[in-house]
Amino acid sequence: MSEVVVTRTVPEAALAALRDVADVRVCDQDRPLTPEELRAAVRGADGVVTMLHDRIDGEFVEAVGPQLKVVANVAVGYDNIDVPAVTERGVAITNTPGVLTDATADLAFGLLLSVTRRLGEGERLLRSRTPWNFHLGFMLGTGLQGKTLGIVGLGGIGQAVARRARAFGMHIAYSGRRRAAQEVEAELDARHLSQDELLRTADVLSLHCPLNEHTHHLIDGAALARMKPTAIVVNTSRGPVIDEKALAEALKDGRVAGAALDVFENEPEVEPGLLELDNVAIAPHLGSATTETRTAMAELAARNVAAVLTGQPPLTPVTA
Ligand code: GLV
Ligand code: GLV
Repeated sequence: MSEVVVTRTVPEAALAALRDVADVRVCDQDRPLTPEELRAAVRGADGVVTMLHDRIDGEFVEAVGPQLKVVANVAVGYDNIDVPAVTERGVAITNTPGVLTDATADLAFGLLLSVTRRLGEGERLLRSRTPWNFHLGFMLGTGLQGKTLGIVGLGGIGQAVARRARAFGMHIAYSGRRRAAQEVEAELDARHLSQDELLRTADVLSLHCPLNEHTHHLIDGAALARMKPTAIVVNTSRGPVIDEKALAEALKDGRVAGAALDVFENEPEVEPGLLELDNVAIAPHLGSATTETRTAMAELAARNVAAVLTGQPPLTPVTA
């Protein structure tokens, strides 16, 4: 029987189909494996179910052995995998698109509202037992109606965020190397803009691009300088898409008005400057963190591994 290693615990029900075709070993430590531990744990296995913190490259594949056939990442993003190097060594790679789209879009909107309506700040005030009373000028935020949402990367998640924004009365603009399908633009009434125009136009800028060499520090000091001082930055993609230090400085100096961040440049660390600011809403990488979604993600990863190990094409392959 084939052998499969899962690098962190996943909802057990998700593994049922995989247990039919392989011996499955789940690493149950309460932290990411170190690179050495990861190699040792997976050595000799035919398949591996990985998390976004597991670094998978050519050296990993060689250390694990030539029997390795598939790496199934339990994430839609796969910047932790050196796709050309792994593919070149004959190993299939899969991710989990689609199943986490709504959960991630929900979280992006929740965090956005947390900033615009000062929910975190208000909660901190109450929990600190500071006296307060209702008056018309108390803790005023800003509305979203009639504002422009600028989306970087109008893929599945970007579109799901845009749909929610439309329900809030927002206008949609987007940038990205690929233009969205005409039906998508029509449904969302979405304008395609250059990156520069998008930065200048957006009242809310929400990032939904993959992390790669084109998007690393896409939002740096220069990009932030082009934005409106009233603008809010939302990031539920990957931390390094933003230069976190530059963002903290821009927020502190009032060059942008707020940020809603689910991901960080050096996760799990958070730039200390950000933690001191009230105009920042933060969450510990919770985009896909619902019971339903995490189960669906693990199940899709397990089905991808089972497919490859039984000689079928993977359901959601990542290609170089
Ligand atoms: C989570 O961050 C993912 O890429 O699925
Ligand atoms: C993510 O699920 C996507 O389809 O972009």
